[in-house]
Amino acid sequence: MTNIAVFASGTGSNAVNLVKAFNSGNRIHVALCLTDKENAPVIEKMKDLGVETIFFPRSVWKEEPQVILDILRSHDISVIALAGFLCFLSDEIVNAYEGKILNIHPSLLPAYGGKGMHGANVHKAVIEAGDLKSGATVHIVTSEIDAGPIVVQKEVAVLPDDTPESLEAKVHEVEYQAFPEAIMKIVASLTPPAIPKSVDDAWAEALGVPNNVPPIPKNDNINQTGPTSPTSLTGQTAPTGPTASISPTAPTSTTSMALTKEGMPPTYLVWSVIMTILCCTIPGIVAIINSAQVSSKFYQGDIEGASRASRNAEIWIIVSFVLGVISNTLYIPLALAGLF
Ligand code: GAR
Repeated sequence: MTNIAVFASGTGSNAVNLVKAFNSGNRIHVALCLTDKENAPVIEKMKDLGVETIFFPRSVWKEEPQVILDILRSHDISVIALAGFLCFLSDEIVNAYEGKILNIHPSLLPAYGGKGMHGANVHKAVIEAGDLKSGATVHIVTSEIDAGPIVVQKEVAVLPDDTPESLEAKVHEVEYQAFPEAIMKIVASLTPPAIPKSVDDAWAEALGVPNNVPPIPKNDNINQTGPTSPTSLTGQTAPTGPTASISPTAPTSTTSMALTKEGMPPTYLVWSVIMTILCCTIPGIVAIINSAQVSSKFYQGDIEGASRASRNAEIWIIVSFVLGVISNTLYIPLALAGLF
């Protein structure tokens, strides 16, 4: 299990989305929320979701970063997600978690980044400039604001009748996909795959579904280049995990870094195939289709869709089994009686 902390200053819809995406699985867990705003709406929301949430005034963030680091260490935090966090992060924190702090920004960075560019300010600037597209970027935090290597970027179209509010709503929708996807990539780069190649993988290969993700060794360099890719970023050791080492990607495309199975619901692929062969064919095939969708949806960042497909596969396996038992139970006496 990899523990992550969310830092947030405002509404907290991204923070809530991360908890919903991860905390029902057993690979990534939002274990802590820290805020710099005493009355931020995110506080109640996170408490309702059972996530420990602590307020520290800005003076602590600025002058006593050790206090923050102690809390992070005591919760075994490996990765930090800045979800609308508007407080300056001191160098001590950035250095201690180098390569392991992700920030979500509501524009296609490097456009509309830097000081003063956050939330509604960004959307107003995009509309005023008459841009035809905007989007969301998740990047690794460095000491320069909004300038670290890009991990995931997703676009939205800006239509003539869009307002800053309507654009914000559209950007939020892609943020809810981009942020979990980026966190899974960082966690995957930190953690060796827990599951060795299995029968499940063999079937996935045979059926041509993306279940055969290559293992990522510790300190693996995953190189991707793009117009703005400067240097490969090599992280230092954070308090609780091995080193992250990821190169940035082209600014206008979603990355395609390899993932491990971190957090993926069970595919039940082997059982689906067995039920198709031994029990009832049609529900078995439906189960196989759902099994195949688990990994494809998961690797597209659609975690809810993957969980749904996993549940559906399970249900259709049971249906196939029950129908198989019933039909065999009826068939055998009728066959013995000579009716078949
Ligand atoms: C998000 O749109 C995020 O991209 C932005 O703040 C919003 C927080 O919304 N972050 C920044 O502007 C950072 N520069 P939320 O509180 O509903 O998650």
